[in-house]
Amino acid sequence: MSNLQDKHIVLGITGSIAAFKGADLASKLTQLGAQVDVILTSAAEKFITPLTLQSVMGHHAYTESDLWGGEAHVLHVGLAKSADLLVITPCTANTIAKLAHGEADNLLTITALAARCPLLIAPAMDGGMFEHPATQENLAKLKERGAYIAGPAEGHLASGLSGVGRLLEVPDLIGHIRFVLGRRGRLADKKVVVSAGGTQEPLDPVRVLTNKSSGKQGYALAQSAIDLGAEVTLITTPTSLTAPIGANVVHVQTASQMLEAVLKESADADALVMAAAVADFRPKRAAGNKMKKRDGIPQIELETTEDILEAVAAQRSRMKRPCVTVGFAAESRDLIQNAGEKLKSKNLDLIVANDISAKDAGFGAETNRVTLLFSSGKQESLPLMSKVDVADAIIERVAALLE
Ligand code: CTP
Repeated sequence: MSNLQDKHIVLGITGSIAAFKGADLASKLTQLGAQVDVILTSAAEKFITPLTLQSVMGHHAYTESDLWGGEAHVLHVGLAKSADLLVITPCTANTIAKLAHGEADNLLTITALAARCPLLIAPAMDGGMFEHPATQENLAKLKERGAYIAGPAEGHLASGLSGVGRLLEVPDLIGHIRFVLGRRGRLADKKVVVSAGGTQEPLDPVRVLTNKSSGKQGYALAQSAIDLGAEVTLITTPTSLTAPIGANVVHVQTASQMLEAVLKESADADALVMAAAVADFRPKRAAGNKMKKRDGIPQIELETTEDILEAVAAQRSRMKRPCVTVGFAAESRDLIQNAGEKLKSKNLDLIVANDISAKDAGFGAETNRVTLLFSSGKQESLPLMSKVDVADAIIERVAALLE
């Protein structure tokens, strides 16, 4: 469950060709459990109809004509007071100027003036209009007042030119919305470090020794912590996944690079979640050039890698305020016994025991079935869940341990 669940989002859509993305955004936010109210400006109605929005949300979309109806005097105040977040996307240069100067000449700008919730603006306009000092000054003024500006991106613009002014894509907009909603969450002011993916140990310039970790569980953990307002550092090996919006991403490849990054980032962290599948062995020597078939089958000598969590335990013993540390135990047999031993030997607060022999859990799967073992002796078996739900459950336990 994301932090959008049951949140009231007032979504303002203004007159830009990118207004069509507003319909997709309203639909996705609704599917994610948010209660969405849309306000279309008159210019937005030239690009998209209220019926489109009404159809994806299942209820009325507000337009300028509502401002002049019998309920108008309470409409904007009602929307403004109950909103958890006011999002204006796409937001034109004209609306940005109005907001910066406190103008209130339509239902959206009146609502914005009455609102006390956070304001997220996603600008969309021609590159020249975005660069113009007037727009830049207006945006700076809004930022100074606490508004959050998402984008714009660089790329193809409606004018046919290329430049900075393109509205962000919907998944990115959702990422920014989650980031802003999280800021007042349970983990606000806490730094959470998450490691993700499988390490890669070079054999030669083109080959690596790696494992089947997809990184999905680690990336989901990073997003869950952002949803609760944590400052998140995601230490990741190469994966095909997109990092959550708001995460500080540190890219590593090998176990020793991950060790260095984890020790550095966890030194001032409140919590560390080691979801990465770290190599236990690496080639003693990586060949400087590509190994050739004609040279015969190579004899590869392996050596052990450093155990990162053991190094963290040593660092924690020297810290005044040691971070809450969570490990994973990837086991194909004797799950609870092996996980319990790792909990002790790695001096963890919590270990997530993962049966990797099951088809619907562990490496690469969308779902996971885990048992949580706490240093207090408490044990919790969670049913088969999506990796997103498992991540939420783990981050919830981390938040409780920090409280
Ligand atoms: N881990 C680590 N450093 C390593 C290997 C693993 O910090 N060199 C961490 C993993 O990120 C995980 C936990 O230790 O959180 C357990 O990893 P796992 O692969 O299950 O266990 P190992 O320690 O490698 O032990 P074994 O191979 O005997 O199962």
